[in-house]
Amino acid sequence: MESRSQTWCFLFFFFFLLLSTQTYFCVAVDTISSGQSLTFNQTLISTGGNFELGFFKPGNSSNYYIGIWYKKVSVQKKTVVWVANRHSPLSNDSISSSEFKLLDDGNLVVLNQSKITVWSTNLTLSNNNAMNSTHQVVLRDDGNLVLRNGIKDSDVYWQTFDYPSDTWLPGGKLRYDNITKKPQLLLTSWKNENDPSEGLFSLELIPEEKAYVIRWNRTERYWTSGPWNGQTFSKVPELRLNYIYNFIYNPGVNESYFTYSVYNKSNISRFVMDLSGQIKQFTWAEGSQSWFLFWSQPRTQCEVYAFCGPFGVCSQGGLPFCTCMEGFEPRSPKDWNMLDFSGGCVRKTLLECGDKDVFSMMSNVKLPDNEKPLQSAASADECKLACTRNCSCNAYAYTSGCSIWDGDMLNLQQHTDNDGDGSDLYLRIAASDVRKSPGGKSKGSNSTGIIVGAAVGILALCLFLFVFWRWRKRQSVGTSKTVVEGSLVAFTYRDLQSATKNFSEKLGGGGFGSVFKGILPDSTAIAVKKLEGLGQGEKQFRSEDAKMLNWKTRYQIALGTARGLTYLHEKCRDCIIHCDIKPENILLDADFCPKVADFGLAKLIGRDFSRVLTTMRGTRGYLAPEWISGVAITAKADVYSYGMMLLEIISGRRNSEHSEDGKIMFFPTWAARKIAEEEDALALLDSKLEGDVNEEELTRASRVACWCIQDDESHRPSMGQVVQILEGILEVNSPPIPRTLQVLGENEENIHFFSDTTSNRSSQVQSTSSASSQTKSSISSTSSKSQKD
Ligand SMILES: *[C@@H]1O[C@H](CO)[C@@H](O)[C@H](O)[C@H]1NC(C)=O
Ligand SMILES: *[C@@H]1O[C@H](CO)[C@@H](O)[C@H](O)[C@H]1NC(C)=O
Ligand SMILES: *[C@@H]1O[C@H](CO)[C@@H](O)[C@H](O)[C@H]1NC(C)=O
Ligand SMILES: *[C@@H]1O[C@H](CO)[C@@H](O)[C@H](O)[C@H]1NC(C)=O
Ligand SMILES: *[C@@H]1O[C@H](CO)[C@@H](O)[C@H](O)[C@H]1NC(C)=O
Ligand SMILES: *[C@@H]1O[C@H](CO)[C@@H](O)[C@H](O)[C@H]1NC(C)=O
Ligand SMILES: *[C@@H]1O[C@H](CO)[C@@H](O)[C@H](O)[C@H]1NC(C)=O
Ligand SMILES: *[C@@H]1O[C@H](CO)[C@@H](O)[C@H](O)[C@H]1NC(C)=O
Ligand SMILES: *[C@@H]1O[C@H](CO)[C@@H](O)[C@H](O)[C@H]1NC(C)=O
Ligand SMILES: *[C@@H]1O[C@H](CO)[C@@H](O)[C@H](O)[C@H]1NC(C)=O
Ligand SMILES: *[C@@H]1O[C@H](CO)[C@@H](O)[C@H](O)[C@H]1NC(C)=O
Ligand SMILES: *[C@@H]1O[C@H](CO)[C@@H](O)[C@H](O)[C@H]1NC(C)=O
Repeated sequence: MESRSQTWCFLFFFFFLLLSTQTYFCVAVDTISSGQSLTFNQTLISTGGNFELGFFKPGNSSNYYIGIWYKKVSVQKKTVVWVANRHSPLSNDSISSSEFKLLDDGNLVVLNQSKITVWSTNLTLSNNNAMNSTHQVVLRDDGNLVLRNGIKDSDVYWQTFDYPSDTWLPGGKLRYDNITKKPQLLLTSWKNENDPSEGLFSLELIPEEKAYVIRWNRTERYWTSGPWNGQTFSKVPELRLNYIYNFIYNPGVNESYFTYSVYNKSNISRFVMDLSGQIKQFTWAEGSQSWFLFWSQPRTQCEVYAFCGPFGVCSQGGLPFCTCMEGFEPRSPKDWNMLDFSGGCVRKTLLECGDKDVFSMMSNVKLPDNEKPLQSAASADECKLACTRNCSCNAYAYTSGCSIWDGDMLNLQQHTDNDGDGSDLYLRIAASDVRKSPGGKSKGSNSTGIIVGAAVGILALCLFLFVFWRWRKRQSVGTSKTVVEGSLVAFTYRDLQSATKNFSEKLGGGGFGSVFKGILPDSTAIAVKKLEGLGQGEKQFRSEDAKMLNWKTRYQIALGTARGLTYLHEKCRDCIIHCDIKPENILLDADFCPKVADFGLAKLIGRDFSRVLTTMRGTRGYLAPEWISGVAITAKADVYSYGMMLLEIISGRRNSEHSEDGKIMFFPTWAARKIAEEEDALALLDSKLEGDVNEEELTRASRVACWCIQDDESHRPSMGQVVQILEGILEVNSPPIPRTLQVLGENEENIHFFSDTTSNRSSQVQSTSSASSQTKSSISSTSSKSQKD
């Protein structure tokens, strides 16, 4: 007994010793107590393991910061939600001697390598609290870092939810304090990807308007949510279904705030004041292991105030969004290359302010802000003269009257379409800076070159794959049927030969071979595609009655196919990327239930990886842009092909067709524009259906198709989300026009909008009747995929 209690005593003493050597004790816990600190290699982890706090280095920066990031979400770089010392980075040398410390007086501080306080919570606690060194800092599982009384948990002095950086997490309050009159919770964008210090864009609450707004440089308002109506904000209607927003506004009470939560608590979601000057709501897509952009506002990049800086030109139609006006160059090429355009452009050559200056015309632009009307000039010539005479005049325009610009020119926007509301601007530049040959159209032909090249590449690849495949097939004859990891079944050639009665009942033929009907020993009906003779282009096959598919059937086919792909992407043990989604590979049974078929090009990737680098494969017209740029692909490549196919299902036509005069008509460019502009959705619909459609479903399907074909794979939904959208569980807002398609559209020489026959594009694009007259020849393309068995 005696020795036992001595052991206990010793253990207790040991434990006590351990407690006092604080620095080594606080690894991998969620709490720091008074006097304790966190050093370079240590982190706090919230109890449920959702969030982690520690030292980090953003992007290419050589500086360190202390921040909170998602622990469970693993993308290449940390997704940081909060930064303590935004403005006072720690240099990278002898970083191991800096500390994140909870002082005895209750303040949380960052000490640099020389133990100098570079960041502090700046609290002055009441004497009673301060003297009592029982404070705690806890990282909660919702991402909130809370500084509280160690004895009385509910006594919270300070929390990161009140001092956010650029991210607003579910549960956080966007607060307006009526005592200090200062918006307490104000999201501020990072300066750039490598620098978390405060950038130009901020989000704040305007309680009087029951709205929140985005400001540029803390002053200029360029976007507002519109007033709260009790359920949602007027400009952001799509929020309701997945998030619960609540706006508390009681005049006379000291604070008004806006808060939100996610319906399904296990969904990971964040709201960010982004570098781009847009607010963005992201949700984590577990299946594709990426952040899915749920919505963003303002909708287009060029609506962001002064995004391209003074003398910059914003163009929604190309990348990068910003260029300099003629005769100007980026003020800071380094920032410009890091996609920070806010510094804008400066003149290459200063004006001599005499007859050496010339005026360069920019046509079809949205005129810059801060124009000065000049009533005295009554004609374009007088306007020009007035500008020439005044040395501080940078540009003039003569529309309904004369306007001149003298200071910085902000928000000049280049329109890319001929929608008629653009104006001409005459920019004053030094004669030596006049561009010799404007290279406006070269982009388009470049990318056409890429696409043609890609098509040739694919054909060559197909030939190779086919030969290889035939060879493999011969090799595999005679091996027995194997079940691969419980989900996929491999059949031998002989199995299939007997199942199809020696390939006797032909259902149809496609690009690479014919499809035969067969019955497995367990009496499952199957369709077998047999490779034979290299298809020249894409021969199509049709079922005996080319019976037209009604809308309901088409929607079921779209939904069923999406479910099938979701299964492949998310539910199988290893993610399977099909790589060749197109109508020819969707087989329909007697009840028009779709089956995803032809896994000849499919790629199996392990659970632990989300990307795979592989040779280009697939079918032209359905290929995602990342195939062409040669980066590792994800399941989002299938999403792109699915989007292209969905457009064909809706319109009952092939996306690209040759017209009688040999031109290529590319339907998606036209369709994407229609969808983005939220025009009459019926315009996209197969005219054969004669408007017999569920319009809500049509809108959903069109929008989701356009989201699927976004250039940036992170903007595309996962297949699981597509299913939810089509099922009506998830809302979908109006998508932007994919940039690649816009570029395609710019090159009118080679690729034409499908309704185009003459030179005047703008009037044609609007006319739906001319569109429907062209659909006749291809009307059977959707129904042609149906094979009755
Ligand atoms: C980081 O540096 C690399 C190589 O210099 C560059 O390619 C990359 O774009 C940089 N990333 C950022 C975020 O600046
Ligand atoms: C610190 O940053 C400098 C400059 O960016 C770099 O050359 C050096 O390698 C960095 N040192 C460490 C230890 O990361
Ligand atoms: C931090 O971890 C790195 C690598 O794990 C190690 O090399 C370094 O010595 C550690 N530094 C400290 C201060 O523990
Ligand atoms: C710590 O901060 C102080 C004050 O900002 C500065 O003078 C000192 O150089 C810093 N020490 C290091 C090692 O960065
Ligand atoms: C704390 O006070 C210092 C000095 O007044 C100030 O520079 C710093 O920004 C304050 N820190 C916070 C987090 O407000
Ligand atoms: C700590 O504070 C409590 C009240 O908050 C007080 O009752 C107690 O005496 C204090 N303890 C010490 C050691 O100061
Ligand atoms: C932002 O406003 C401040 C004055 O409030 C001004 O000094 C600064 O130049 C402005 N920044 C830009 C990029 O215009
Ligand atoms: C702020 O407080 C004053 C009285 O102190 C009140 O009249 C006003 O309505 C309050 N404003 C808000 C937005 O709560
Ligand atoms: C508002 O603030 C004042 C001053 O701090 C305080 O006296 C009052 O109780 C507060 N009112 C409410 C409703 O919280
Ligand atoms: C909530 O999400 C979890 C996983 O993220 C899922 O298992 C669960 O079914 C979802 N619940 C609802 C009601 O959607
Ligand atoms: C919520 O989680 C479920 C299950 O993981 C997922 O299917 C769904 O898409 C998520 N919802 C949102 C809005 O991200
Ligand atoms: C030139 O323009 C500036 C700014 O608009 C104006 O202040 C100035 O008076 C003008 N000078 C002449 C000579 O008209």
